[in-house]
Amino acid sequence: MTLYDAFNRPLENLRISVTDRCNFRCSYCMPAHKFPQGYRFIASADLLTFAEITRLARIFNHLGVHKIRLTGGEPLVRPHIEQLVGMLSRIDGIREIAMTTNGYLLPQKAKLLREQGLTRLNISLDSLDEAIFRQMNGGHAEVSDVLKGIEAAERAGFSSLKINTVVQRGVNDHTLVDLALYFRERGHIIRFIEFMDTGTLNGWKYDHVLLTDELIQQIECVIPLEPLPAQHYGEVVRRYRYADGTGELGFITSVSNPFCGGCNRLRLSAEGKIYTCLFARKGVDLRDLLRSGASDDTIIERITQTWQQRADRYSEERSSGQRTEKVEMYHMGG
Ligand code: GTP
Ligand code: 5AD
Ligand code: SF4
Ligand code: SF4
Repeated sequence: MTLYDAFNRPLENLRISVTDRCNFRCSYCMPAHKFPQGYRFIASADLLTFAEITRLARIFNHLGVHKIRLTGGEPLVRPHIEQLVGMLSRIDGIREIAMTTNGYLLPQKAKLLREQGLTRLNISLDSLDEAIFRQMNGGHAEVSDVLKGIEAAERAGFSSLKINTVVQRGVNDHTLVDLALYFRERGHIIRFIEFMDTGTLNGWKYDHVLLTDELIQQIECVIPLEPLPAQHYGEVVRRYRYADGTGELGFITSVSNPFCGGCNRLRLSAEGKIYTCLFARKGVDLRDLLRSGASDDTIIERITQTWQQRADRYSEERSSGQRTEKVEMYHMGG
C-alpha cells in the first residue's frame, strides 16, 4: 500500500536519525558557540532503541517505504550502529539502507557497515582547503580525516559514493571547482548543496547563498557540463555530467529551485518523533505509543493521519518570509 498526502505526494522514503550528537560543529548546523562542551543532548534513555527503530521500520515498510537513510547528528557516533544496519537489512521489503555521514569514523566502521548490509554512503566534505574546512567544521577535523574515511569506504566495497558539499558564498565558494575536479578524478559524484535556513541558529541570510546557476557558470569556465534527466520521483538533486563523458555531479537547489512538489520523505528523530518537513515547527510523537504497549494498528493509524494531513512546502514558500520557529536539523535528522 502507499499513503498520499494532501498534495498527492506518496510516502516512500524514510530518514531515520539515530542520534542528535555530532563530533563536528559545522557553522551552518551546530555552530560551536551555541553547542559548547557539556551541552545537553537527548538523554540515552530517551533515544529509540534499535529494537524500537526496527519495529517502526517494519511498519513503514508495510506502508510503502522501501528506502531508508540513517542520519544524525552524526550517525556513526551512536555506539554499535552497525547492529542496527544488520537488523534493518533483515526486513524483507527494505531494498536500500543508506547513510549520510561526515566520514570521520569510517576508518573504524566502513567494513562493519558493509558486512551488515548498508547499501550506500553519502559523505560530507565542504572544502579541500585546510583552513576553510576547519573553519566550517568548527575545528574538529582535517581534510585528511575525511579523505581517509572515503578511502576506507572504497576499500570496504562501497562503489557509488556521493560527496555532499554545503556551499556558502564568501566562505568556500572559491574552492569548489577544485573539489569537483578532485572527485571527478576518483569517480565519485559530488553534490553541491545551497546553504539552507534550517533551524534558527545558523545565522542564515539570503546573501550567504551562492545560487546554483552562478556555481554552474563558475565550473563551466573550467569544464563544460550537460544536464541529465531525473532518475526517479522525489529526487532532490539536479544532475549534470561532464561534457567529455568523465563523470557526474549534482546540485541541491532548495533555495533557488525548490523541489517540494515531489517530496516523498518523512523524518524520524532519534527520540521517536516524525517530521513531515525539514523545516517543520514540530513533530508527532511515536515513542509514547511504542512504550505504552500500543499495537501496530494504532501506530499505523497515527502515521497515516500525519501523512494524509501533510501540506508542507516550506522551500517554495520561503521567499514570502522565513519562519521564526523551526526544529534544528541535527535534532530532527538531516
Ligand atoms: P540520495 O539521493 O538517496 O543519495 O540521498 P539524498 O540526497 O536524499 O540524501 P542526503 O542526506 O545526502 O541529502 C543531501 C542533502 O540534501 C541533505 O542533507 C539536505 O541538505 C538536502 N535535502 C535532503 N532532503 C531534503 C528535503 O527533503 N528538503 C530539503 N529542503 N533539502 C533536503
Ligand atoms: N544547509 C545546507 N546543507 C546542510 N547540511 C547541514 N546543514 C545544512 C544547511 N544549513 C548538510 C550537511 C550534510 C547533510 C546531512 O546536510 O552538510 O551533507
Ligand atoms: Fe555534524 Fe553533519 Fe551537522 Fe556538521 S552538518 S555538525 S557533521 S551533523
Ligand atoms: Fe520536502 Fe519540506 Fe524540503 Fe519542501 S522544504 S522538499 S516539503 S522537506
